[in-house]
Amino acid sequence: MAAPAPSPDQGNDLAHAATAAVARLADEPVDHRFKGLPLDVAPGTTLGELAAERRSLFTGGFSTPVLALSAERLEHNLVALADYSARHGLAFAPHGKTSMAPQLFARQLQHGAWGITLAVPHQVRVARAHGIARIFLANEVVDAAALRWLAAELDADPDFRVICYVDSPRGVALMDEALRAAGARRRLEVVVELGAGDGARTGARTEAECAAVADAVAATGTLRLVGVAGYEGEVPDADLAAVRGWLRRLTDLAVAFDAEGRFAGLDEIVVSAGGSAWFDAVAEAFTALPELSAPALKLLRSGAYVSHDDGHYRRLTPFNRQPDEGALQAAFTLWTQVVSRPEPGQAFLNAGKRDAAFDLELPEAQLVRGTGAGSVRSAAGLTVTGLNDQHARLRVDEGVDLEVGEWVGLGMSHPCTIFDKWQVIPVVDADGTVTELIRTFF
Ligand SMILES: Cc1ncc(COP(=O)(O)O)c(C=O)c1O
Repeated sequence: MAAPAPSPDQGNDLAHAATAAVARLADEPVDHRFKGLPLDVAPGTTLGELAAERRSLFTGGFSTPVLALSAERLEHNLVALADYSARHGLAFAPHGKTSMAPQLFARQLQHGAWGITLAVPHQVRVARAHGIARIFLANEVVDAAALRWLAAELDADPDFRVICYVDSPRGVALMDEALRAAGARRRLEVVVELGAGDGARTGARTEAECAAVADAVAATGTLRLVGVAGYEGEVPDADLAAVRGWLRRLTDLAVAFDAEGRFAGLDEIVVSAGGSAWFDAVAEAFTALPELSAPALKLLRSGAYVSHDDGHYRRLTPFNRQPDEGALQAAFTLWTQVVSRPEPGQAFLNAGKRDAAFDLELPEAQLVRGTGAGSVRSAAGLTVTGLNDQHARLRVDEGVDLEVGEWVGLGMSHPCTIFDKWQVIPVVDADGTVTELIRTFF
C-alpha cells in the first residue's frame, strides 16, 4: 500500500495555523537582546517594522559580527527537500531543533511538511506556543513534569498530535505512571526506537528488546504503539552498506510487529528515520517496505538541510551521490570585521565562539568586502586557524591584502550550532537587502 500523501487541505490548515501564530513575532521590539541589528533604530521599532525598512545589511547600520541567511538559498533548500520527499513517497517532519525558528517551521509546513520533529519537551513547548499541531518527538521522555504538561496539552487540544520514542520497559513504566498521575485522557502515541547498533545512542539494541518494549506499551492504558523509528545518523562507523543494513533491520521490525498484530486497529503505521546525511538510503529502504496492514506513514526527519553548510554537510549530502536528484546550497554567511593586523601574516576578526559554529570544524573565510565602494573579492589566502570567545584568528598568506575595517564573510560547518548563537537572524536578498528577521528560541 502506498504511503498516504498528506492531504493538501490538512497540510494547508497546519501551515495556516503556524503562519498566523508566528506573525506576532514581528511585534517584538528591536533592542539590546539582539546582536548585529542596527543601533540607530527609533525606540520602540519592532522586528517587523525594521524588516519593512528593507535596509542593506552592509550599509544600513547593521553592526558586525552579523549572521546573514540568504533568502534565495533558504527557499532553494526548502523546495529541494520538499520535492525530494514527495518524489519518493515520504512524509516530511523536518527536525526543528536545527533552527528552533518558528517562522521556518511555518515555511516548512507551507512547503508541505507533515509536521515538525523536535528533540526535547522544551522545544515542543516552543513549537506549541507558535501553532504547531503535529510533532514527532524523536527522543525518550521520562520526566514526569514534562509528561504532565504534554498530557494537559493533548487533552486541551484535540487537533494536537505528538508521537514520542520509547526504548525500555522501565521508561514505559515511568511514562505510564506520570500520565496516570496526571489524569491523562488521551493516550500518548509512541514508536519503539531501534538503536543504530552497539555503541550507538539511544534505542533498544535488539529486536527482542524492541518486542519487550512494545509488550510493555501494550500493557499500559496511557500509551498507544503506532510504529517504529530510529536514526541512521548514529550508525557506528557509518558507510552506505552499514546504513542500508540498519535501515533494513528497521523496516523488518515494522513488518514483524505488524505480523504479530501489534498495530491492529491503526489507521496508519509510522516508520521513521532520516537526517540530512543519508536520506537517499532512507528513501530506498522505505520504498522497499512491504505492504503493511494499514498505510505506512514513512516519515523523514532531515533538519540540517534547511540552511545546509560549508563543511560537514557539504561533504555528506546524499546529493553528492545523486546529483540528478537535486542539490542544497549553503545559506549562511557570518559577516565579521577585521579589528587588528598586529603582524604581517596575522589578522583578527571580531567574531568568535559566541558567534560561529566550531564544534565540527573551524569557519572558512570566503569573501572580503572592501571599506571603499563596497567591492567584494575572494578571501583566497585567508584561513581561520582558531577561535577565542570573541575573536577569530586569521592567517594571511604573503601578498594577500587585508586591512583593518574590512568585512570578512565566513562560511561555517554544522547548521545546528550556527542557529543557536543568534536570537535574530537577518534574511538577505542577493543584493544585500534585509527582507525578514528570523527569531530563534534555544
Ligand atoms: C533523531 C534525529 N533525527 C533526525 C535528525 C536530523 O538530522 P540532520 O541534523 O542530519 O538533518 C537528528 C539530528 O541530530 C536526530 O538526532
